[in-house]
Amino acid sequence: MQPFFAGEYANPSGHYASARRATEALTSAREQVAEVLGALPEEVVFTSGGTESINAAIKGVAFAQREAGAGAHIVTTQVEHHAVLHSVQYLERFGFEVELLPVDEFGCVDPDEVADAVRDDTVLVSVMYANNEVGTVQPVAEVARAVRERGRALGRRIPVHTDAVQAANSHALDVDALGVDLLSLSGHKFGGPKGTGVLYLRRGIPFLEQLSGGGQERQRRSGTENVPGMVGLATALTLAQAERGAFAARTSMLRERLLAGLRRRWPELRSNGHPTQRLPQNVHLCFDGVEGEAVVEALNALGIEASAGAACTSATWEPSHVLLAMGVPIELAIGSLRMSLWPALDEAAIDYVVEQLPGVVEQVRAAAVPAL
Ligand SMILES: Cc1ncc(COP(=O)(O)O)c(C=O)c1O
Repeated sequence: MQPFFAGEYANPSGHYASARRATEALTSAREQVAEVLGALPEEVVFTSGGTESINAAIKGVAFAQREAGAGAHIVTTQVEHHAVLHSVQYLERFGFEVELLPVDEFGCVDPDEVADAVRDDTVLVSVMYANNEVGTVQPVAEVARAVRERGRALGRRIPVHTDAVQAANSHALDVDALGVDLLSLSGHKFGGPKGTGVLYLRRGIPFLEQLSGGGQERQRRSGTENVPGMVGLATALTLAQAERGAFAARTSMLRERLLAGLRRRWPELRSNGHPTQRLPQNVHLCFDGVEGEAVVEALNALGIEASAGAACTSATWEPSHVLLAMGVPIELAIGSLRMSLWPALDEAAIDYVVEQLPGVVEQVRAAAVPAL
């Protein structure tokens, strides 16, 4: 990335030699990403991150489809990231109708239920690849196949989008194998720079750009391109996908060590998400009688960096919409803890967490003010 921050500083829209070098770097980054996705380079749109890609995918397709008279009905799930949920809520203000499908206790959506929800005015289906809280990997290929068959019966093509932001370290991203028409990625989730993203947009899918201006990215996303960012994103994505087998093997081993260690202490330990169809690096636990944030703070003081699965506002605890959709009782949902493992962690770090976490939970539980 470094040469493109300073030495090769030119704007790729220019027509002089240094601008051409910037364009070449961008072209090469686009080709690298296209190769990972099994896509055409022109189907790759560079963005500022997962949120922008998802907003563009959902709003861009929804508005274009409605303009073409295809309808205004959208199908998605209750466990999506807020980038999806708030985008579809936004569209409701413009007259779109949204169906949020339920999930099972593992956070999985049923592909047949998705297909059954599709109507002859459905303009988009959006189902995430992997959940950011509990790590469940959705059966995206089956969903896409079921939607395609349903679309065939209805005599129309219904675009399928997947939020693949969490999947790139451990799962394949071939868009044809997945059967998706749109796919969103965020650079920093796979070791690339923050503030970079990709929207894969299959050729022929109706799309109305959400950022209008100078017409960059083939009119689909105006604005001067982030050349160093895209150079970094493309390299990181290529490396992450080349190493995903090793990533999965290492993080699964660390995950099993962590859970086995904790279960020696707590045989009844509750680990959330799907037992096998999951992100290997994600560990999501629930404890009763504690608030997740308090556990996170106490762990932080011990040098253990984790996050609570619940968002806290000043007046009220707001339990995770994902856990509630999975049927987790509210008391447990409030006491959730998420840890993300990384291949570079060593076994000693895992053993340190196993040693410290039970005492921390007990200490937080003892200090908790009983609910009135
Ligand atoms: C599943 C999922 N989707 C979307 C996003 C948003 O990505 P970004 O923060 O790059 O905009 C995230 C970020 O954590 C995520 O986990």
